[in-house]
Amino acid sequence: MRLFPDLAIRTLCAVASTALLSAILAGPAAAQGQVTVYCSILEEQCREGSALFEKATGIKVLMVRKSTGETYATIKAESANPKGDVWWGGPGEAHLQAAEEGLTEEYKSPMLPQLYDWAVRHAEVSRFRTTGIYLGALGFGINTEVLKARNIPEPKCWADLLDPKFKDEVQLADPNSSGTAYTLLATIVQLFGEDKGFDYLKGLHKNISQYTKSGIAPINALKLGETGVGIGFIHDIMTQKLAGAPVKAIAPCEGTGYETGSVSLIKGGKGTDAGRKFVDFALGVEAQSINNRLKIYSMPSNREVVIPPEAPDFKSMKFIAYDTAKYGAAETRTRLLKKWGDEVKSLPR
Ligand code: G6P
Repeated sequence: MRLFPDLAIRTLCAVASTALLSAILAGPAAAQGQVTVYCSILEEQCREGSALFEKATGIKVLMVRKSTGETYATIKAESANPKGDVWWGGPGEAHLQAAEEGLTEEYKSPMLPQLYDWAVRHAEVSRFRTTGIYLGALGFGINTEVLKARNIPEPKCWADLLDPKFKDEVQLADPNSSGTAYTLLATIVQLFGEDKGFDYLKGLHKNISQYTKSGIAPINALKLGETGVGIGFIHDIMTQKLAGAPVKAIAPCEGTGYETGSVSLIKGGKGTDAGRKFVDFALGVEAQSINNRLKIYSMPSNREVVIPPEAPDFKSMKFIAYDTAKYGAAETRTRLLKKWGDEVKSLPR
């Protein structure tokens, strides 16, 4: 009579204490030992970064690669129950919009003194809710073999891309999903003014074969000879050229804009402490040197990272006074994207 209840109670206690022990172990250990990173740079950079961070810290990385606009939309949609901890990479405007909307957390990394002024200024603009990790010059790439075979002269300027000879020969991403394409939209509006800029985008639309989801897709198509022109970042075009593809990077004659690639800590993430460590890592020499191994020559924000001679020469390019803060303001970015959808993308081609 006495044996059974005792045994039952002891068994219950044992089960409960094992459960409690594993809950205690699993709870904080999971929170400290894991970080979810939304990665808006290239797949191969995301993979290398995860491996290096895991090796250096023992913290497990769950990496999700998504384009910049898509990541912004995901973070916003998840804001009541955030699933990500860090947003790594992608042009700064969407990061600034997330900062303004309270989707990202203030964090003054101890790495800030190692950064160039432009990266620190970018952090200041966001009240330290994002920080600059690289710069990338916008331009377009041409596949010299495709253009030669179709007897199309090499374009040098943005205006050249409006020529009907380029019908179905230009690829660009959709600025709603891609930060690269939003950089183009903001560049054209700053270069020509909003009205003339939208006229330009409507003219360009006639020559676009497809709007891709990610900014790198037109450059991959360029490499494969599937398009004669791909609009994107000069460093991504150079990567293909260095790998032997018959492509050329063009810094447009009228002048061009650029991206401030950014990293942000997502507000309310479950691994915020590990997330802070990941932000420090993203601003450090080790993470920013991944690009040299992969030959992806965006300009690093950490002053100690070596810039190889193959990197695009920013001094030889003509830049506009690109205003990342203005075009990263929530109202402006939302309005321009809607206007592009209503007035450009919806037009017949
Ligand atoms: C590539 C470029 C980055 C850029 C990113 C944006 O990874 O190398 O410099 O920030 O594309 O991607 P998205 O798909 O948002 O245009």
